[in-house]
Amino acid sequence: MYDNLFTILQILTYAFVFVVGTGVLIVIFLFIRDITQTENAIRRNFPVIGRFRPLFEKLGEFFRQYFFALDREEMPFNRAERNWVYRAAIAQDKGNTVAFGSTRDMRAPGAIIFVNCPFPTLEVDASTPQPLTFGPYCRHPYIASSFFNISAMSYGSISKPAVQALSRGAKMAGCWLNTGEGGLSPYHLEGGCDLVFQIGTAKYGVRDEIGILSDEKLREVAAHDQVKMFELKLSQGAKPGKGGILPGAKVTPDVARIRGIPAYKDSISPNRHPDINTVGELLDQIERIRRVTGKPTGFKAVIGAYGWLDSLANEIRRRGNESAPDFITVDSGDGGSGAAPMSLMDNVGMLLRESLPLVVDKLREHGLRDRIRVIASGKLINPAEVAWALCMGADFVNSARGFMFSLGCIQALRCNKDTCPTGITTHNPKLQRGLDPANKAVRVANYARNMEYEVGVIAHSCGVAEPRRLKRYHARVVTESGRSLSLADIYPEVKTAAPDLGAPNTVN
Ligand SMILES: Cc1cc2nc3c(=O)[nH]c(=O)nc-3n(C[C@H](O)[C@H](O)[C@H](O)COP(=O)(O)O)c2cc1C
Repeated sequence: MYDNLFTILQILTYAFVFVVGTGVLIVIFLFIRDITQTENAIRRNFPVIGRFRPLFEKLGEFFRQYFFALDREEMPFNRAERNWVYRAAIAQDKGNTVAFGSTRDMRAPGAIIFVNCPFPTLEVDASTPQPLTFGPYCRHPYIASSFFNISAMSYGSISKPAVQALSRGAKMAGCWLNTGEGGLSPYHLEGGCDLVFQIGTAKYGVRDEIGILSDEKLREVAAHDQVKMFELKLSQGAKPGKGGILPGAKVTPDVARIRGIPAYKDSISPNRHPDINTVGELLDQIERIRRVTGKPTGFKAVIGAYGWLDSLANEIRRRGNESAPDFITVDSGDGGSGAAPMSLMDNVGMLLRESLPLVVDKLREHGLRDRIRVIASGKLINPAEVAWALCMGADFVNSARGFMFSLGCIQALRCNKDTCPTGITTHNPKLQRGLDPANKAVRVANYARNMEYEVGVIAHSCGVAEPRRLKRYHARVVTESGRSLSLADIYPEVKTAAPDLGAPNTVN
């Protein structure tokens, strides 16, 4: 028995010496490698130890999010904002409440505060939104019932189960789903919801063999009753001046087939529509799409330079009211994307805070406010932000990342890598397993419904019967001095220089 014990001890000792010896040899090897290499300064100056830096940096992302970041600290969306969406997505009874007091610093400069009325209605506690019509001159105008809708996210940038869940959820909530620039997939149609078909600069889904916009393909898409409107994407907030970017890893054969491009090769759209060089050509293109499809047509843009809006308005007035786009989607410079260069994402394009009132005022100035619907998008994921957009004059609000949170997004910031841990922006079937379209569709619908309800709660508190009746004087912004100023004073109502031409049957 002692012999056996001795043998075991001997084996353990050899194993220990072997492991420690190998470890020491590896350290010596890495040490020599690090001090002799020239690519990495940290490893050359701090051999072996310097190798831990990238690991700690990676782990830091998780530790900060879970343990250290305060509720209102993270970017692009902080925990408090995300949590509101998560609660709204699971609450079916409109009971999204919190306790004790606000954790938001309402004294911070820039904070928006709505002005409540002294005698809100007794019987109801939320104002009810009314439907609004797009495209009064179209063969098929669109009556949209929800003011909060799902922003453009292409199939390819997001996964099949994500599109399925959004489509079914949009149907349940009665809102629309924008297809994004990747064409129309069966998954968009599957849930039966209203769709806005986006035409990106590569014209995916509506182009001929050589990439030119095809009337025949437009007719095919428009033949789906579910497709209610067409949106020409001029630019988006995350990457003005750059076309769509879908990394090759995400161009699966299915995505490639729907876009009409080769599989597993980067899908890069042109930086702008090659066939639109002037405001006149923009109106020509809109007119063509509307004529061929018979459906309301507008465009999406992030605003930077804005003189062209005057030229556009003057050209519309010259051609006549019918020639106008049926809507303009104003995207914020801090909008999101599946993939974009950081220099554009961080630095280019006006924020919605400035561009939304600017566009609304330009339309008023040129007498086009009633003719052209304004859709606002960009970090409008909580009710106060949506209510702010309505105060500033938006008719509708679109959200992309808000709906991603409702699908379970944890802001892992990996949309460009095909490794999204929640299955939303990956085509890896193992990761998609976590995203059950049936379950998530209910969350999508709850989020949309609760958003409309809580914006209605703010509107009711301000004493208006319909959320779109919120005006700039209903919101105040806290200034450096601690006093708040009415948004109506900061952005005074613009006088209409030209008579408002309005449009038939636009107001419901
Ligand atoms: C994953 C992802 C994919 C997107 N794809 C498109 C697209 O195909 N076309 C487009 O116009 N915008 C696209 N966007 C931008 C959004 O539609 C939206 O304009 C922007 O994210 C701002 O809204 P948000 O703050 O609610 O996300 C995408 C955004 C994300 C996050």
